[in-house]
Amino acid sequence: MSEAAKREQWSGRLGFILAASGSAVGLGNLWKFPYITWENKGGAFVLVYLACIAVIGLPVMISEILIGRRTSQSAVPAFRALGTPRWAFVGWMGVITGVLILAFYSVIAGWSLRSFVQCVGWSINGYEAPTGEAFGAFLAAGGSQVGLGATFLALTAVIVVRGISGGIERATKILMPVLLLIMLYLAFTAMTLDGFGDAIAFLFRPSFSEIGKAGILEALGHAFFTLSLGMGAMITYGSYVQKKESIVGISLTVAILDTVIAIVACVIMFSIIFTVPSLRETMEHGGGGSTVGMLFVTLPNLFYTAMPGGVVIGPLFYVLVAFAALSSTISLLEVVVATLVDRFSWTRIKATAVATGTIFFFSIGCALSLGASEFLSNFRLFGAEPGGLNKVVAADKAGVLAWFDHVTANWLLPLGGLFITIYVGWVLMSKEAEEELDVGGSTPRWAWTAWRFAVRFLAPLAIGWIVFEVIRGGDFS
Ligand code: PHE
Repeated sequence: MSEAAKREQWSGRLGFILAASGSAVGLGNLWKFPYITWENKGGAFVLVYLACIAVIGLPVMISEILIGRRTSQSAVPAFRALGTPRWAFVGWMGVITGVLILAFYSVIAGWSLRSFVQCVGWSINGYEAPTGEAFGAFLAAGGSQVGLGATFLALTAVIVVRGISGGIERATKILMPVLLLIMLYLAFTAMTLDGFGDAIAFLFRPSFSEIGKAGILEALGHAFFTLSLGMGAMITYGSYVQKKESIVGISLTVAILDTVIAIVACVIMFSIIFTVPSLRETMEHGGGGSTVGMLFVTLPNLFYTAMPGGVVIGPLFYVLVAFAALSSTISLLEVVVATLVDRFSWTRIKATAVATGTIFFFSIGCALSLGASEFLSNFRLFGAEPGGLNKVVAADKAGVLAWFDHVTANWLLPLGGLFITIYVGWVLMSKEAEEELDVGGSTPRWAWTAWRFAVRFLAPLAIGWIVFEVIRGGDFS
């Protein structure tokens, strides 16, 4: 037990909240949420997403932190420590999911470095409109894609290898406040733009005819993705939380912060986009490509053509994106590293090196799947015939990166979350949970009752139902 006794901890409440919200706030909020909200036509999708966060996400987050803190172990050994080694598969599933997410995530995070450099160039030398193919050419340049992704992975590894207080906590204590300040500044600027009103209407005026079952699964999957749930990240971060903290309190803070930042990111981006009428037109009629590239293609140009103070805001914005991404990649790598350290008693250095190397291997596949390699760019695990299994599993996505993204967010994370709610609701002794949540103390009874109901019935049934409907072949458009 000497290992457990020596285990590092967050220095306090703030340390955990910054690290955990750093994990939650990332490309999910700045890159993915705006474009899937756009593709799903706003309003109704946003509402479903908010419901998923409140009814499923928050209870799952409480469950994960509870498991971690109770055992002071990362996911795989945590299930063993609770006397249920058979459930360790949930932890292993999380490790695999983490490897796959980090592999594609680091490549996209790399794009923020490129956009930053590009914006600095424009700010200094004057803006020069790029041609339509410029971004496509960048994506297809395999060397840059691999290189930028590797750079991001290396940055992540350098922080993770230093451990909790000296690495992760120290980094997120700088990254997160800077991120919040930049965000605030951008939000105020967005409010002065002509498109602000339209952006608000798009986000908050629901029209339910627009959303189908696949959209609901996407909202659910994204709720997991954005809160870093369903793969053991919060179990791992929870394992470093001090006993005196209130799990419900810190979970609520992280969930609210993450949600507010996602919405504000949309307000900022859509305000800019709606300010330019012609752009609104192309976005509405453009294919998926233009929406996926929203953050990196549409936006940089607008900073210099449609936004006051864009010369400063442009580069600053991509610093924000890179910081947000980095505090998330840290938590993804930590899941893998902590498992290797806790389970096999490896040193942190060895674990970090092996984990980073493995992830780098998969990230090469992602990096070359954007045009550089014909084979990887058309990759479909379940065959290519239209309407076949690939359509159900991956919404017809092709290419390693798109595939990893879709399959992790829409399937592996919700399934991981399903297992965790079943475990906490039906397998873990209710007395253990009650004690860990300090019911009657920092957690009021009604909150305990609501949480119990959510993890036993609401969340598993909702996840199960959505997954079932989609498999049954709901509507795939
Ligand atoms: N929550 C992060 C984001 O929104 C992504 C992430 C998923 C991080 C899972 C850790 C674990 O960008």
